[in-house]
Amino acid sequence: MKIFAYGIRDDEKPSLEEWKVINPEIQVDYTQDLLTSETAKLAKGADSVVVYQQLDYNRDSLAALADVGVTNLSLRNVGTDNIDLDAAREFKFNISNVPVYSPNAIAEHSMIQLARLFRQTKELDAKVAEHNLRWAPTIGREMRMQTVGIIGTGHIGRVAINILKGFGAKVIAYDKYPNAELMSEGLYVDTLDELYAQADAVSLYVPGLPENYHLIDAEAIGKMKDGVVIVNTARGNLIDVDAIIAGLNSGKISGFGMDVYENEVGLFNEDWTNRDFPDEKIADLIARKNVLVTPHTAFYTTKAVSEMVQQSFDAAVVFGKGEKPETFVEY
Ligand code: NAD
Ligand code: COI
Repeated sequence: MKIFAYGIRDDEKPSLEEWKVINPEIQVDYTQDLLTSETAKLAKGADSVVVYQQLDYNRDSLAALADVGVTNLSLRNVGTDNIDLDAAREFKFNISNVPVYSPNAIAEHSMIQLARLFRQTKELDAKVAEHNLRWAPTIGREMRMQTVGIIGTGHIGRVAINILKGFGAKVIAYDKYPNAELMSEGLYVDTLDELYAQADAVSLYVPGLPENYHLIDAEAIGKMKDGVVIVNTARGNLIDVDAIIAGLNSGKISGFGMDVYENEVGLFNEDWTNRDFPDEKIADLIARKNVLVTPHTAFYTTKAVSEMVQQSFDAAVVFGKGEKPETFVEY
């Protein structure tokens, strides 16, 4: 059986080499290039392809892949939002993803950022770097004194809740489909409005579906406590960044952690050293001492990368045998 992989990064190669040792009967070829209508021909003769890219999987690239006889597509990530699913349906693509690769990676990152915002570490680090070792006015707030509102209690939100329990914070949560175990612990509030009214911090763990577009907008922020801290490691389109900037300017929001950004494609995972950002808002946010921007790196741990590689290649083998992997995407 032959598998061809696109967009393989250097940090993925050790996991891929490990996988190859465990699966010596599978021929694996790969390129660092992304899947496009041009590169599709490289997969000719493969039983399945393994892919990860933030750029679109458009009709042209899917058609070109189908043209060389490959219609098994295993994603190394969870999101399928950048696939032209009409085209995928037309060319009869089988798709798999990696829905759960390491919820801890994202949950930990979100809670690290939240703790840093409460302790004003960005400002403190900047003072220390300038040899200013005075305490005031950079005073912190303790996690155990805070009520933290968790929106979305799926795989990642639930790990975040466990981390918060370790800090001794009071957790309140909201989910359209509450989890039975958390329900029995009495963590849920009935409405987002209740969560906004009570929470000192709000952290998001819901998908970026159209129905959740700009869940956090000026109206939602208006319902939150003065000095609220907001963290978003979920999806950029959940937040209206203009409303966040207005909230930071007025002091309504005292801290913002942003790992995902609505306009992140082409911006994140690029080196902008000695170049102006193409987007004034990102420059503004990065310059603020009470804002922590990370370029969609919440997932980026050795464990998560290794799971993404190994689970996607396992699924590609299942496809190659003409079977459905557990991570088959129904669309
Ligand atoms: P999940 O599907 O396990 O959980 C999502 C939860 O959100 C579900 O329980 C669902 O019922 C709930 N939900 C959906 N819409 C809601 C709404 N409007 N109000 C309340 N609850 C709602 O997802 P997950 O694996 O926990 O992922 C959570 C988020 O993290 C997703 O947005 C995902 O794309 C994102 N993510 C980010 C990174 C990163 O590196 N930053 C990596 C992986 C996933
Ligand atoms: C996802 O898996 O959907 C993520 O958000 C992480 C991605 C950048 C690899």
